[in-house]
Amino acid sequence: MRIVVVGSGGREHALAFMLSKEHEVVVAPGSSALGQYFDLSDKDPLDIDADLYVIGPEQPLVEGLADRLRGHSKTVFGPSKDGARLEGSKAFLKDVLVAAKVPTAEHRSFSDISSALSYVESMKPPYVIKTDGLAEGKGVLVTERLDEAKEDIVAKMTGQRFKGAGRTIVIEEALLGRELSLFALCDGRSAVALPAATDYKRLLEGNEGPNTGGMGAYAPLGWASDSLQEEILDTLVKPTLQELLRRGIQYRGVLYAGVMVTESGPKIIEFNVRFGDPETQVVLPKVEEGLGDILFGCAVGEIGTSLKVSPKSLLTVVLAAPGYPASTQTGAEITGVQRASEKDGVKVFFAGTSYDSERDAFYVSGGRVMAVTGEAPTLQEARSRAYSAVSEISFEGMHYRRDIGA
Ligand code: AMP
Ligand code: GLY
Repeated sequence: MRIVVVGSGGREHALAFMLSKEHEVVVAPGSSALGQYFDLSDKDPLDIDADLYVIGPEQPLVEGLADRLRGHSKTVFGPSKDGARLEGSKAFLKDVLVAAKVPTAEHRSFSDISSALSYVESMKPPYVIKTDGLAEGKGVLVTERLDEAKEDIVAKMTGQRFKGAGRTIVIEEALLGRELSLFALCDGRSAVALPAATDYKRLLEGNEGPNTGGMGAYAPLGWASDSLQEEILDTLVKPTLQELLRRGIQYRGVLYAGVMVTESGPKIIEFNVRFGDPETQVVLPKVEEGLGDILFGCAVGEIGTSLKVSPKSLLTVVLAAPGYPASTQTGAEITGVQRASEKDGVKVFFAGTSYDSERDAFYVSGGRVMAVTGEAPTLQEARSRAYSAVSEISFEGMHYRRDIGA
């Protein structure tokens, strides 16, 4: 098959890397760093001829790229604009979850500041405050402090934070337990799960500091049994697909379940409508073959083939630019990428990285710069491979967590 991967980040690098083992891949638009390995195209995906279109990021999905492509009889892995509202609107997500009787945190939506403030005052900590709208994984505050919660509500609702995105907010019950990310590949009616992963959302070691898009990940999880993953599919994912169908939405793409495994069973924290970044970098390489066929099956409404998954472990460490996530500074030259990539069992996935072919040099061009990934038979070995590769790479102000998988 000829497959177009839409996007330009670390997740798209992992998708293109895995799909290109068995298929011809074009990345649109990609980046100068990805251009070292793949054909790129800056055309509208509609103007690129292909058998399958895999849409990476949420933004084009929310804007309706999948509908536009399907409108021209293209085969697309990625939900329609209607389906993408699961991620684009927390209020819509909660409405679907309640209708589908999917366990999730108690919540209320607010568009009026004084009601939001008096509601939060009536709650017990920790407080969870979310924006309604896309905020690149940075729209959530979880805090023990009432003053911080109130300050956040005001900032979000007045649009000081996340521009207009925050005018409606959701305040919800805090879920306690262990968190995991599970990617369900969906064909509209049915779904299969990829192995679960753990993501490290906070910027700093010991899970301190602000929420980010994700600073590291590993898979598989020793504590998440196959039967737990089946339970998540049966109690959280499939009822959601059914409810979407009832509303006339055939969801063909990945449903990324952010799950809290609580004392009373798994509950949905959120659904995203795309693969997670950096979890994709540790989950997809576990698929031994047929990834393209499965995505194609989902796209045409019939998953069909079963997944062959390897037992190996993967762990990835995200190298972040100075100032990330608040005020990313770009432009620094990156050294050691080649040395790191040449190590055994190491793969460097580029995100906010650019490549200058004249100088044969890499530069920082985004907040999360790259995901340095180790793979090995055990998690401990995968971890030491990843960190030994990280130690080869440097750029001014480079920041990463040293406790991924510790
Ligand atoms: P989200 O952007 O919704 O994935 O939220 C980011 C992170 O905040 C999640 O990965 C959780 O760690 C945390 N979080 C969000 N909602 C809740 C909740 N209701 N209870 C506990 N933690 C939460
Ligand atoms: N790693 C979290 C996300 O992709 O949203």
